[in-house]
Amino acid sequence: MSKTGFSRRGFLQRSAGVAGASLAAKYILLDPDPLTALPRVNAPSDKVRFGIVGVGMEGTGLLTTAIQLPGVECVAACDLYDGRHELAKEIAGKSIKTTRRYKELLDDKEIDAMIIAVPDHWHKQVFVDAVSAGKDVYCEKPMSHSPADGLAMVAATKKTDRITQIGAQRTSSVLCAKAKELYDSGAIGELSLVEGSLGRNDPTGAWEYPPPADLSPQNLDWDTWLGTAPKKPFDPYLFARWRCWKEYGTGLAGDLLVHLLSGMQFVLGINEAPKRASAFGGIYRWKDGRNTPDVHPVLFEYGEIPVYMRLTLATETAEVTRFMGSKGILELTEFGLSYTPQAGVDLAPSYYCYGLPSRLKNAYFKQWHDEHDPKPGHEPAPKTESYRGNDYDDLKPHLWNFFQAVRSRKPLVQDVVFGHNAALGCHMANESYYRKSPVYWDADSQTIKS
Ligand SMILES: NC(=O)c1ccc[n+]([C@@H]2O[C@H](COP(=O)([O-])OP(=O)(O)OC[C@H]3O[C@@H](n4cnc5c(N)ncnc54)[C@H](O)[C@@H]3O)[C@@H](O)[C@H]2O)c1
Repeated sequence: MSKTGFSRRGFLQRSAGVAGASLAAKYILLDPDPLTALPRVNAPSDKVRFGIVGVGMEGTGLLTTAIQLPGVECVAACDLYDGRHELAKEIAGKSIKTTRRYKELLDDKEIDAMIIAVPDHWHKQVFVDAVSAGKDVYCEKPMSHSPADGLAMVAATKKTDRITQIGAQRTSSVLCAKAKELYDSGAIGELSLVEGSLGRNDPTGAWEYPPPADLSPQNLDWDTWLGTAPKKPFDPYLFARWRCWKEYGTGLAGDLLVHLLSGMQFVLGINEAPKRASAFGGIYRWKDGRNTPDVHPVLFEYGEIPVYMRLTLATETAEVTRFMGSKGILELTEFGLSYTPQAGVDLAPSYYCYGLPSRLKNAYFKQWHDEHDPKPGHEPAPKTESYRGNDYDDLKPHLWNFFQAVRSRKPLVQDVVFGHNAALGCHMANESYYRKSPVYWDADSQTIKS
């Protein structure tokens, strides 16, 4: 959820802001919200009218943020839980239409675009129906719940000229843009390894959310909520904590790894599935009946590059992605970016030569110093550049880019193909975990194989 609500990230960012205030002078502040540079008023004809499906934790942030954008208007909201009709009207005004049936929004010719923020197991159907009905679509991440779902979403979009944007919002942040600029300029030289990690250690971080107090089969269409998943009796905990089960969610991979992979794809300009993945892990901390791992380290191969991603809900660790190359490191964190150049040459005589007799050692040291020592007063002073941006998890620019593309019809970077590839990384991480075996993406059959 975005910082417009009481989100985890918003909370972390506020705490980091307080703790980091005294260090602020050491950072290069990147341009703030690019929206401030744009005209605030749009002609009425420019107005984009959207409908939203799913006004839960994430849908709330999306709706609240989208209606703040110039020239963007919410017309209708759909949710299977009536409490969220009440919520949608609180956010977007009493005049919006609310319904349990998303197809009513698709039939509405007033609606240009749809925001889809339902649980993962419902993404494909709503997405395919929406593009097929001629709507442009912003769909939450992970785009798909399975490789087959993703293929169907790509195929449905190809039959139309619809604009699509998948919701891994950090690819629209100034921090990701700066990381990409530095990478493209050759700042870290030859890339040889990417590593990323993210850890949480609290019930909310591990998805143990409290269900709405009034939830009942009277105010929730439970059968439709289950969708194509096996039938089960009404269960408010399942409604709130669906991420814990693979029948509805896509595990740690689909919830959190997808952000790291999407950010990496964006910075490196990758738009393909990993070639191979090997995952490990298990359920170590949250033995609450879930069937998705709470510790999930994965080693991928993207092209020729090894990518190691470590996700855990059992220990809190900072979120970071490191791009490592022959000329240094780019380190992307939640609230900042740093670039540390490396010379990649010996900065002192080789310590190997301490193991030689004096006649050889002394001659080597003398020659080394003669050839390499800088003139006094000209010693190198390598520096690290640090950047701070507005927000790494930048929902507002991501939504703005979508609505601008709806107007301009120019394709977006994180479209259905990009989202499919990022989701395939997640599915491969999950398949490898469940199969207890390395997996690869078989491009011929378009399936994951062991
Ligand atoms: N981009 C991000 O940072 C981010 C953060 C959180 C969640 N998400 C994604 O957003 C999506 C929603 O997550 P959430 O935490 O908001 O879930 P949630 O359970 O809080 O909300 C989902 C809502 O969708 C409704 N719904 C389910 N099926 C529906 C259907 N067929 N028709 C209409 N309404 C339906 C439910 O009633 C519920 O109110 C997920 O895909 C999740 O991965 C993205």
